[in-house]
Amino acid sequence: MSRVAWFWRRWIAPARQDEWIARLEAAGCATWTLTERPNRVQHLLAVYDAKRGPVEALRGLFGGRVGLIRQSRWLRAKPAPPTRIGKTLEILHHLPRRPLAANQLVIPHGLAFGSGEHATTFMLLRALAREPVRGRVLDLGTGSGILALVARRLGARKIVATDFDPAAVRTARENEALNFSTSRIRWHCADVKQLSGKVRYDRVLANLFSGILVEAARRISACVTPGGQLWVSGILRAQQDEVIAAYRARGLKLIRATRRGKWVMLQFRW
Ligand SMILES: C[S@@+](CC[C@H](N)C(=O)[O-])C[C@H]1O[C@@H](n2cnc3c(N)ncnc32)[C@H](O)[C@@H]1O
Repeated sequence: MSRVAWFWRRWIAPARQDEWIARLEAAGCATWTLTERPNRVQHLLAVYDAKRGPVEALRGLFGGRVGLIRQSRWLRAKPAPPTRIGKTLEILHHLPRRPLAANQLVIPHGLAFGSGEHATTFMLLRALAREPVRGRVLDLGTGSGILALVARRLGARKIVATDFDPAAVRTARENEALNFSTSRIRWHCADVKQLSGKVRYDRVLANLFSGILVEAARRISACVTPGGQLWVSGILRAQQDEVIAAYRARGLKLIRATRRGKWVMLQFRW
């Protein structure tokens, strides 16, 4: 016999997330899920219960929709487990009930790439946790902002992050607000192919496709300060030689190549 669960759902504005969670808590809800959906600005807030009564009470209080689902879908609707990066960092994918710990960040699965689990991001995060940077960081193709946010959590002094997708920049900015009470990262909507290279950084992070990394090699290299490092990811094994050659031609030295499945991360130094 298949078991079922009742749900209450409502679309909410991301900026009012804290307010909604406080309302649900005041209404006695022990658990809830918050999901972002592609092509939707609003987030889907949901509460699941084995009985109909509690979710009907929520509809009475807050509007929204009530329905019935099978247990298999109910299990999938539970919040994703945290992503652990080495021993030091934990990326949560839904807001915890308690304030974030010093080693935690919350990055909801959402509109922009970068929740931490993908091999290309994971390799950069693990390297950052091992070798945090205190100085200036540039994050190219920031997506959800995850690398910039982790750099901030690990003590980077000045961080600039860019993406050519305005929705990604918006999401990344919102993610900074979810994690920090002040805004310190400078988020820009910009194409790496137009980087001026006038400002130099101690650590440049770029999780982009190989084609872009090769095409923009001159501009990206120009952003790395002497003695600084460039860490690039998003490279398929078959394409790594081309990327290495493009950056060696600019004078950078390859110091480490890390593989995970079909993906490679390359670390260069000036
Ligand atoms: C693979 S995601 C990486 C996201 C995040 N930094 C991470 O490591 O998970 C690549 C990001 O680069 C952005 N991007 C792709 N081409 C770009 C370009 N030419 N200029 C700026 N951003 C670009 C995409 O919009 C996307 O958000």
